[in-house]
Amino acid sequence: MAGPIRFSLLPESAGVSPDGHLTIGGLDTLDLATEFGTPLFLYDEAHLRSRCREAVEAFPGGVAYASKAFLCRAMARIAADEGMSIDVASGGELAVVLSAGVAASRCVLHGNNKSIGELRDALVVGVGRIVIDSFDELARLEALALEGLPTPNVLIRVTPGVEAHTHEFVMTGQEDSKFGFGWHSGAAHEAVTRAEASTAVRLVGLHCHIGSQVFSAENFAKAIEVVAPLAREVALEEFCVGGGLGVAYVEAEEAPTISQWARATLAACAHAGVPGRITAEPGRAIVAQAGITLYEVGTIKDLAGIRTYVSVDGGMSDNPRPVLYGSGYETALPRSIAGDRALPIRLVGKHCESGDLLVREGWVPDDLVVGDVVCTPVTGAYGHSMASNYNRLTRPAIVFVGQGTARLVVRRETVEDLLSTDVG
Ligand code: LLP
Repeated sequence: MAGPIRFSLLPESAGVSPDGHLTIGGLDTLDLATEFGTPLFLYDEAHLRSRCREAVEAFPGGVAYASKAFLCRAMARIAADEGMSIDVASGGELAVVLSAGVAASRCVLHGNNKSIGELRDALVVGVGRIVIDSFDELARLEALALEGLPTPNVLIRVTPGVEAHTHEFVMTGQEDSKFGFGWHSGAAHEAVTRAEASTAVRLVGLHCHIGSQVFSAENFAKAIEVVAPLAREVALEEFCVGGGLGVAYVEAEEAPTISQWARATLAACAHAGVPGRITAEPGRAIVAQAGITLYEVGTIKDLAGIRTYVSVDGGMSDNPRPVLYGSGYETALPRSIAGDRALPIRLVGKHCESGDLLVREGWVPDDLVVGDVVCTPVTGAYGHSMASNYNRLTRPAIVFVGQGTARLVVRRETVEDLLSTDVG
């Protein structure tokens, strides 16, 4: 037996209507499901904005939104309006951000294998920063300099050799990594030396990112301590501590706030004598809890003595995280959001694999019926951005709600979209 869903897992503007329904931004989520269809990603715009503002205040040296967590034009505009710059990790992310009207000078280009085309485009539009990840990339930038393109401001990404306590797939700070220049091998020092000597780039800083969904401030502090001697030696204008702050997905989890994380990392930098502006680039912590997904229940199979499978109209194509990382989520019923959840269920999708699960151990009220709308909170990060068309499902729509209005910001894909690239 589980009690009502913990409201701190829901978007900040979540409320309960007089008839017991979940509201977001003052709107009944069941009405939104009817109006826009399911599966549906719903975001609380005020929540998104307040996280961006919190980050901007917490990192006076500057802070970028890691757009890989969730990107569409409306989100890029919100992050930029609220004073963030934007971290893009591909030419595609850069194109979306630019098409939102955000200045290229506010973009930071990441990636462990940026193509010469991506780098050229970035130089042509004038991105604010490029985070160099390999000697091959530096060589590409040197080749591009011969084309007479503007000289980019660059940071060197350092892999500090610190293992963050998180899932292996999202750990990036350890020495055995495809990212960055290793610390212990001397590659990081060599990269700095070569970049300083190069006329193709203007070295402005160091960067380190230890992984994602990290809860412990100590992990960040350890990485800072490792890289600090080099930062002191080269005394550059910027030191970026990356992103990676974890969020609570399920009842039992608690995560530091962005402000707490910032205080701890800034203190660690000060303690280690890191000079220059300290910057950061959170993604998940900005958007995860602002979003929920609504699904419609299509079938309920009560396997006596085993479990109850509840199948919905989405699945691993709109949220691959449970399958990829074994990530946990909660389930709740918007029509009875403050009610007890007496029925243990496994929430599964409609894909052709047994592994297609959304919530391994969920709870819903025991009067659940086919046709109910069920929601999974904390799906604002790495859901839509990692969504696929597996089994040729169409990707869901995204709706932003705020101040009593709902606006469609990404429409649901159609079968025509699926066929539009199939030219054979
Ligand atoms: N900076 C860099 C260089 C990154 O690689 C990442 C995330 C971030 C910032 C933002 O990290 P965040 O604050 O969002 O944790 N798909 C995985 C997460 C992959 C993270 C990739 N890089 C997931 O769903 O958990």
